[in-house]
Amino acid sequence: MKKNICIILISLSVASAMAAETYISNIYGRSYQILNGKWDAIVDLYDAGHQAKIYLNKKAIGETDFYEYSFENGLRLNVPGDWNSQSPELKYYEGTVWYSRHFNAVSNDKHRYFLYFCGVSYRCNIYLNGELIGSHEGSFTPFQIEVTGKLKQGDNNLIVEVNNHRQQDAIPALSFDWWNYGGITRDVMLVTLPQTYISDYFIQLDKHQANIIHAEISLSNEKAGETITLRIPDLAISVKMKTNNLGKASKSFKVSKLQRWSPASPRLYDIEIESNTDKVCERIGFRNIESEGNKILLNGKEIFLRSISFHEEIPQRMGRACTPSDAEFLLSEAKVLGVNMVRLAHYQQNEYIVRRAEEMGIILWQEIPVWQTIDFSNQETLVKAQNMLRETIKRDRNRCADCFWGIANETRPSKTRNHFLDELLQTGKSIDTTRLFVGAFDNVYFQQSSQCFEMHDEFIDKLDMIGVNKYMGWYAAWPLSPEKCIWKVAEKKPLFISEFGGEALYGQAGDETIASSWSEDYQAKLYRDNLTMFKGIPNLVGISPWVLFDFRSPTRFHPQNQEGWNRKGLVSDQGQRKKAWYIIHNFYQQMKQKYQE
Ligand code: GCU
Repeated sequence: MKKNICIILISLSVASAMAAETYISNIYGRSYQILNGKWDAIVDLYDAGHQAKIYLNKKAIGETDFYEYSFENGLRLNVPGDWNSQSPELKYYEGTVWYSRHFNAVSNDKHRYFLYFCGVSYRCNIYLNGELIGSHEGSFTPFQIEVTGKLKQGDNNLIVEVNNHRQQDAIPALSFDWWNYGGITRDVMLVTLPQTYISDYFIQLDKHQANIIHAEISLSNEKAGETITLRIPDLAISVKMKTNNLGKASKSFKVSKLQRWSPASPRLYDIEIESNTDKVCERIGFRNIESEGNKILLNGKEIFLRSISFHEEIPQRMGRACTPSDAEFLLSEAKVLGVNMVRLAHYQQNEYIVRRAEEMGIILWQEIPVWQTIDFSNQETLVKAQNMLRETIKRDRNRCADCFWGIANETRPSKTRNHFLDELLQTGKSIDTTRLFVGAFDNVYFQQSSQCFEMHDEFIDKLDMIGVNKYMGWYAAWPLSPEKCIWKVAEKKPLFISEFGGEALYGQAGDETIASSWSEDYQAKLYRDNLTMFKGIPNLVGISPWVLFDFRSPTRFHPQNQEGWNRKGLVSDQGQRKKAWYIIHNFYQQMKQKYQE
């Protein structure tokens, strides 16, 4: 199986170089034809499609020729959407599915045309009218392929070969604790842009100053001397800048009466960027996020991060979240819990979720799925991780809600791991120095010698905030009673409990001291005990219970209590709140008052 994939996929570095040249930020602010809807599909269990040249989409014409495939009158799948929740036969399917659709195009030589994919899980080849035009690897980040000069006037046939086989050199790798949804899981568009368009921009408040905005704007072509105008009408700002010979312009300017974005007042400003041939409108918020000693400051004020994590999944549908109403559903449930932050686990989630969070005043931690056992010694895997981080940051670096970039979850210290994460950190910092880089670590242990919880991982010194996943009362037994637990972990750094919790089947009562009761009572007591212990962490800046909703996981086998669900949710798969939900809700009310947010 692996051999085929390697031959067909355009090499990653080529694919990413092409993407960089033609980058398009703020896709929803551009002119596009949406290609969502019902697509024809063929399930290709043995990857025989290449041999059969399915991508040519041939039709029998003569008397003797015939084709052992057809996209017509067969399986149809929704795009966007995972295939697993759309047909019982595909619930557990991991393999290749060929998608096909036709669309009409009327192109001219005054414009450039791109196919833009917001997310395809996991790897894919893209064919237009029978020609392989591009590839991508990674389920959770967008990519675009230029089709200028490749479009036919009128009917075009777009075929997408999607494969979600798990592989050791992939990210995530062979095993992970969420459902391996496959398919074209996010929006697809045909984008029309001027010959020279505004390809990318980064407009942010200075890291420390409250009244200085830095703007970097790039044109798609290396044109010098082009005038670019940036307007922020509500701040009476209109600044002009000239492009250099790389087609890039930048300017820093003072602003007055700026209302900085925060959970309490998620102020966004309308922004207009205009060049000689293009104009893009945007909504951007401005805020300062810093770590100072072992504190996190938002707009110069200490903040306690009241967080929750969720997967990009609608439990009631047992499928990927992919629409604005899905985003509303997930974020509203988080908001009512009392959060001012969400950890989007364990991968970049769709833009509807990120932009809606920003409007709702919810801080975001976004990460790439460097989850546990990644092939850290594999150079190709490192390149994949760097591409994913680049694609993640570039898509959302104008989103003020995004305050934390996560580069790893539960990876064990080793020379190869440290090198891998070092490279990733450099990649991230080369694109964005305004945000905080973080990771989630699960190697905090109770030391008999010091009777304290300690962590020995040299890599954490390089991060701005340390996330700790610690499951006291579930994966780890209490060495002492919670109020006696002292933590001496990364004391000079801000420490964030990025995961804690335990499983409970909604509606199940039981002994609060017995884990195998799988009861709400046990989960509730576990939460009370952990909150007690957290008081003993001097550098604690926030917590993120694992997890908002019960979620699908093929590694959860208990027939009565799990049935393929990770039951650590505070809310069940049917949307019912468990007893622990109320404990966190109350705690967050208290913290909100304490920090006068
Ligand atoms: C880990 C991991 C999660 C997982 C959780 C669990 O900490 O980061 O992805 O779901 O544990 O075991 O429930």
